[in-house]
Amino acid sequence: MYIATSQVSYWRFLLRYEWIYNRIGVAVLNRKRKYNSLSKVHSTIHTQRSTWLAYSHNLELPDLYIINRREHRMTPKIFITGGTGYVGGSVLHTIVTDHPEYEVTAFLRTVPPTFSTLYPNTRIVKGDYDSSDILTSEASNADIVIHNGDSDHEPSLNALIKGLLLPRSTPGYLLHLSGTGITSDWASTSFLGRSNPKIWSDIHDLDEVRAIPDEALHRNTEKILHETAAKQGDRINIAVICPPDIYGKGKGLGKTWSVFMPLFLREVKKMEGGRVFYYGEGTNARGWVHIDELMEIYLKVVEAAVAGGAGFGWNKEGYYFTGTQEHSQLTIANATAKVLASHNMIKNTTPLQLSSLDRLDTMIDYPGFSKLGRYLYASNSRTRADRAEKLWGYRASAPGLLEVLEEEVLDAVQRF
Ligand SMILES: NC(=O)c1ccc[n+]([C@@H]2O[C@H](COP(=O)([O-])OP(=O)(O)OC[C@H]3O[C@@H](n4cnc5c(N)ncnc54)[C@H](OP(=O)(O)O)[C@@H]3O)[C@@H](O)[C@H]2O)c1
Repeated sequence: MYIATSQVSYWRFLLRYEWIYNRIGVAVLNRKRKYNSLSKVHSTIHTQRSTWLAYSHNLELPDLYIINRREHRMTPKIFITGGTGYVGGSVLHTIVTDHPEYEVTAFLRTVPPTFSTLYPNTRIVKGDYDSSDILTSEASNADIVIHNGDSDHEPSLNALIKGLLLPRSTPGYLLHLSGTGITSDWASTSFLGRSNPKIWSDIHDLDEVRAIPDEALHRNTEKILHETAAKQGDRINIAVICPPDIYGKGKGLGKTWSVFMPLFLREVKKMEGGRVFYYGEGTNARGWVHIDELMEIYLKVVEAAVAGGAGFGWNKEGYYFTGTQEHSQLTIANATAKVLASHNMIKNTTPLQLSSLDRLDTMIDYPGFSKLGRYLYASNSRTRADRAEKLWGYRASAPGLLEVLEEEVLDAVQRF
């Protein structure tokens, strides 16, 4: 309880109290005057974490208040999709392990047999991404939705947004997994096989990100997110999590490996003499992030949402690149060749230089995107995690890709 002597100091006090409470969990108050049964509630103010009751002994004297804070820190309800995938499984594991106090629901198409043993307090909802009604209903009941698994699936994203926009007391949060494929220069031949000087910032280049042409990877869903943020930003808080290529062992119960290395090695195996390869100069570069570093981003953004979102980027600023390093295709090819040769899997360690784009374009048969080969091995996608660095000093904390490449390669050879 506290006595404030004017409207201004009353507001100052509220802000200060909230600030102190959010940081140390307790605030010491003056006890100059107590309210009693004669006191009346003069006004009620809701903030993300509290309801503030302003009492007055005499409503005719509104410059004298006694303020009482009623904490309404309810258990945050988190709804996570894709929990058997590489990223989604890691997110689920990280959230449940780091925050056993959260109420977590996992949306699963198939439930791993040991799921409930490992995560006994996690509620399971079964369905697939076309189960729109279930997704909408679950999102409407959640404080925070974390959508993983398929960055391009429009119906599931629309269903989740619909649920989050249903009437609720405070705006819900949506973390959507995208990918830096959106910044890739694969669609033009200008920089294929050579370094593109453009490095995308998630602070300075967001207008450009929102104006990327529709042919870009993940653009279909990012467009939905940008439009929702622009039109409904007062009713929803969106954060797009945009990782580059990810490496490191996943933490979940389903898939624990990433996508780049198994696909690359499958193509290497098909090459004459099992040669690693690059296109053009091979100086085209892509960003990389360790799965542990990516989980740090998820954790920070989710914790910020639970704390009321203050100070973090949402909607217009709700975009997070996550890369901690970048490597050219030639560097990856050389390093991979050394590992393969040291395990007697190839003899010739000199990477093969490819000069035909047709060769790249026939490499990986991926439904809906025929240029996956040139995207993976010839394009640039260079990004900088400026927002996370600015917010909490995010920087590389896990072993770099080249330090753990042997592990990555040996794991990947089992995957095809
Ligand atoms: N891995 C990377 O390096 C990377 C980097 C940047 C962006 N991304 C993007 O992130 C997304 C996820 O990648 P990931 O590597 O985590 O994929 P993943 O390991 O294949 O995981 C996919 C997850 O989504 C679920 N899922 C997929 N389609 C579903 C559907 N129709 N209904 C219900 N569940 C469905 C899968 O469930 P089941 O287990 O039942 O199949 C699984 O849990 C992809 O779109 C990818 O483009 C990945």
